[in-house]
Amino acid sequence: MSLNADPAFWAVADKHLTRYGPSFESIIVERAEGSFVYDADGRGILDFTSGQMSAVLGHTHPDIVSTVNRQMASVAHLFSGMLSRPVAALAERLAALAPGLDRVQLLTTGAESNEAAIRMAKLVTGGHEVVAFAQSWHGMTGAAASATYSAGRRGYGPAAAGSFVIPAPNSYRPRFKHPDGSNDWQAELDDAFELIDRQSTGNLAAFIAEPILSSGGILELPPGYLAALKRKCEERGMLLVLDEAQTGVGRTGHMFAFQRDGVTPDILTLSKTLGSGLPLAAVMTTEAIEQKAFERGFLFYTTHVSDPLTAAVGVTVLDVVERDGLVAQARERGERLKQGLLALQQKYECVGDVRGRGLLLGLEVVSDRQTKAPGFELGARIMEEAMHRGLSMNIVKLPGMGGVFRIAPPLTVSDAEIDHGLAIMSDAIETAARAQ
Ligand SMILES: Cc1ncc(COP(=O)(O)O)c(C=O)c1O
Repeated sequence: MSLNADPAFWAVADKHLTRYGPSFESIIVERAEGSFVYDADGRGILDFTSGQMSAVLGHTHPDIVSTVNRQMASVAHLFSGMLSRPVAALAERLAALAPGLDRVQLLTTGAESNEAAIRMAKLVTGGHEVVAFAQSWHGMTGAAASATYSAGRRGYGPAAAGSFVIPAPNSYRPRFKHPDGSNDWQAELDDAFELIDRQSTGNLAAFIAEPILSSGGILELPPGYLAALKRKCEERGMLLVLDEAQTGVGRTGHMFAFQRDGVTPDILTLSKTLGSGLPLAAVMTTEAIEQKAFERGFLFYTTHVSDPLTAAVGVTVLDVVERDGLVAQARERGERLKQGLLALQQKYECVGDVRGRGLLLGLEVVSDRQTKAPGFELGARIMEEAMHRGLSMNIVKLPGMGGVFRIAPPLTVSDAEIDHGLAIMSDAIETAARAQ
């Protein structure tokens, strides 16, 4: 019998654990290293989601382990008004990486960083209305959940007053088209803001956006979109908040995804990737915005703000990313992975689209290439077959789209691991498609 079936373990899990999302995997993870997690049978499973899209350095990276040990033994947590050297060091490092965003607050999770960003935008603009994309995910707490539209809105009562939504651009399934059939995102954006202007009571505070909507099915903002969005915000006196929880720290082949577009947001939130698997987040903004927020009494005082332990981890993450050239590596390995996925698209009818950049890629499964009809069941079967063969991938299922695999291995992934993952994917698709 597989040790993953341990009846005592599952009896406890089934009796005592709250089911907080889709079903649990049927393995027991005992340890993890590099690009692999290991189950109770000692079987290595290639982790193509970097944990929860976070572990950019892979699992149990030796530099992180040694930083945690060192920092834990000196100081891990403090009174929220006390400062320590790792906090100042990380703020300085981040500011140098994002010119113009000189002010940094260190927090814990992605949702929390977006709470702080939205709270700051409200205080500074005097408005309260927040616009987001219809396929967004910004977190499970109040303001972040009010700006999250990809899932989780039903059953929890009213969202914050003044929560507005516009469609995210989708080049595979464009809503507005140029005569040649390509996505006319500018027309879509103009149309969307016309509707926002009709709904607004004149109190717009912020637009919050992911540069690549990940939980929304790897929808990339096309070149030029971010600049156009920033103009829309400026015209209305609202701040542009960019949520780089998943795209920050090298994943897309730039340190931050917005750098491809040459557009600096008013507020940048980082989380997941910044701690490479440990709970660390940052909210970055300009001197002018921070000054205004301060003058108006900005309060975002939390238990783990400016904790030295996770700040030290953040410094180490940035050190390793720089030392090992991981931003360039994400671009190169990402290209290898994308070419492999495009080859799968050539080979299998059910692969409707391949998109994304760097090591944040999406593969959309459809049941009909011509009509682009969703292939949810096939996608779920492919995921099962892949897991069975030792590859963990995540599939997003959203109304109006097919099943989209989110593929985001650690930036430390090797060429051999990419090829291994692609081979498993190919087998999994072939087997699942044959069983149809
Ligand atoms: C883009 C984005 N923002 C925010 C969050 C929320 O982060 P957390 O779960 O750490 O609160 C997520 C989580 O998936 C995310 O993908």
